[in-house]
Amino acid sequence: MRLFTGFLAALFLTGSAFAADEHASAPVTIVIHGGAGALAPGRYTPAEEDAYEAKLNEALDAGYAVLESGGTALDAIEAAIVLMEDSPLFNAGKGAVFTREGKNELDVSIMDGATLNAGAAAGVTNVKNPIRLARAVMENSEHVMFARDGAEKFAKEQGIETVKPKYFRTERRWKAYKEALKAEKEAAKQDKDAALPHDFKYGTVGAVALDANGNLAAGTSTGGMMMKRYGRVGDSPIIGAGTFADNKSCAVSSTGWGEFFIRLTIARDICAQVEYAGKTVEEAADDVIHHRLPDAGGDGGVIVLGPDGSYAMTFNTKGMFRGVKNADMQSVSIYGEAAAE
Ligand code: GLY
Repeated sequence: MRLFTGFLAALFLTGSAFAADEHASAPVTIVIHGGAGALAPGRYTPAEEDAYEAKLNEALDAGYAVLESGGTALDAIEAAIVLMEDSPLFNAGKGAVFTREGKNELDVSIMDGATLNAGAAAGVTNVKNPIRLARAVMENSEHVMFARDGAEKFAKEQGIETVKPKYFRTERRWKAYKEALKAEKEAAKQDKDAALPHDFKYGTVGAVALDANGNLAAGTSTGGMMMKRYGRVGDSPIIGAGTFADNKSCAVSSTGWGEFFIRLTIARDICAQVEYAGKTVEEAADDVIHHRLPDAGGDGGVIVLGPDGSYAMTFNTKGMFRGVKNADMQSVSIYGEAAAE
């Protein structure tokens, strides 16, 4: 009997080992973005370019280290996004843009491609790392999204680190906000609409990852659009617009003019084209970013990752802060052809 039990245990363990190893060959990969916009060569000094590239590499390294040690895609994207939220360089967490009323209001979401579970928060003003809040919403609540004071109450209940709203303020963003207010006043005097330069409007951070078990995850975090009106919510916390992940098709994080990304359900559309039309992630991203989005009048970009490790970093703006790391390579870029890579 003992022998039989031992035999069964061995069989069970072998079976488990097979189950765990089923996707052990998945090519672990992380792709990140730090926002798309009017990023033409000459926009930044060499020192500024170095600072952006160093932070993108740091975020890639942090996320990839999780994957390399057998960690989950969710942990990898959280590690990468936290670093970008903490950096004043990007419009997410510290360094977020200002609303019309001079506040920082943060939007965020996360999705697990293995379970299709998701979490999001909109309009939070005191959560240091919104991506951690999105993850807590996904894992510790029966809901998908919390907004404003409700989201902050949930963050407190969950013991998530909060800060005074002034923590998010940087002089660079404050100056841009003041200039935009002035431009708007001038335009109003002439009975015209103030045209905000693109790089005043955009910026978001995001990550998609594939772990050794073949699971995909996606996350997106942002301060939204500068001068957004009270209570405006962009695409970043909207599952299917700013973020989507499904092991069957792909993981996507978006950056750009949120209203268009919401109307066109950009992230879901890309994965639907992969799932139902059999397109590669690059073909699906090309169709959506170079055709559907500009045809509707919007602009921006996406990062996309498939369950086989294929990826796209596609944008129709002048540039997009972006980077990718897998077992064979690591690269980061700011400017570039407005095309898939
Ligand atoms: N894509 C960021 C926003 O529109 O809020």
